[in-house]
Amino acid sequence: MDPVLFNDWHPVAPASHIAAGALLATDLLDTRVVLWRDSGGALHAWEDRCPHRGTRLSLGVLRDDTLRCAYHGWRFGGDGRCQHIPALPALGEAHLKARVASYQVQELYELAWVCLGTPGDNAPPRFPEFADPALRKVWCGHYDVQSSAPRIVENFLDMAHFAFVHEGILGEQQHAAIPDYMVENFDDAEYGAGVRASRCRAWQPQASQAATAGGDIDYTYRVVRPLTAILTKQAPGALREAIALLLQPLTETSTRVRIILALDDFNASDDALRAFQDTIFLQDQPILESQHPARLPLTPGAEVSVACDRMSLAYRAYLKQQNLHYGVIR
Ligand code: FES
Ligand code: CO
Repeated sequence: MDPVLFNDWHPVAPASHIAAGALLATDLLDTRVVLWRDSGGALHAWEDRCPHRGTRLSLGVLRDDTLRCAYHGWRFGGDGRCQHIPALPALGEAHLKARVASYQVQELYELAWVCLGTPGDNAPPRFPEFADPALRKVWCGHYDVQSSAPRIVENFLDMAHFAFVHEGILGEQQHAAIPDYMVENFDDAEYGAGVRASRCRAWQPQASQAATAGGDIDYTYRVVRPLTAILTKQAPGALREAIALLLQPLTETSTRVRIILALDDFNASDDALRAFQDTIFLQDQPILESQHPARLPLTPGAEVSVACDRMSLAYRAYLKQQNLHYGVIR
């Protein structure tokens, strides 16, 4: 297992989807995870695998803050310890050694975040715009993509595809040129240490909701974690917008994508804003799923890069330096 991702936090579900008394199954880094909320409101994240015979615990039943396995009815308390084996009812709790593997879990940005390993100083990625009361928040997705998480981050950082994949929305072929841009390392406390960012400019057919003509937009892309990026956009005199790309790596080559928008457009409905992101993402998806290999190659020369791929190359260098192994080819 990749120690970097194993010891980091990952979004696994909207917190509101984990209802008291219900079991929610998901996957993270090739691990089956079951999420549940106890009567006190606390979240639990366990390996979704009974220590007895490997059955998915999410097939079981929750009662009085204990989980009963669907197969032989073993009962596990909130700490993951087995309390009761119906086939051996005389066996006292002290003799029961079985214990479900449990993980750290917390709620942030209205999502549940899980760390499978030891988080140490790690906290979930910062998203400073989320705390800005002047910006409204809209949750988009999830989208399940048959591709590695690093390929999806790289696509998010890529502007040269706008004129082709998102023609008429984010770009047009007559304006496909990408002006030269710089990639910098930021140590700005707002987003965390060692954040890589690029500030760039691209032409958009409709530079803002209110615009009637195309124009240049300034984009700032920040890679705040191996699998998290935040884009902030500003067109002159127009609305402010931040888009956080939050990824749940299910396996090395399948990923659940969530996007949170923080923007000062209070006119459009949530549904309209979500529909727009759906359109954009569904245009990206077949491209992402066609890329071969699905894992992102970090070996120099494995793919041909040009000047406007500078941000992609900085991202690949960052993953190398972070010693990431999962979802990449080293
Ligand atoms: Fe869960 Fe037997 S497999 S109780
Ligand atoms: Co795209």
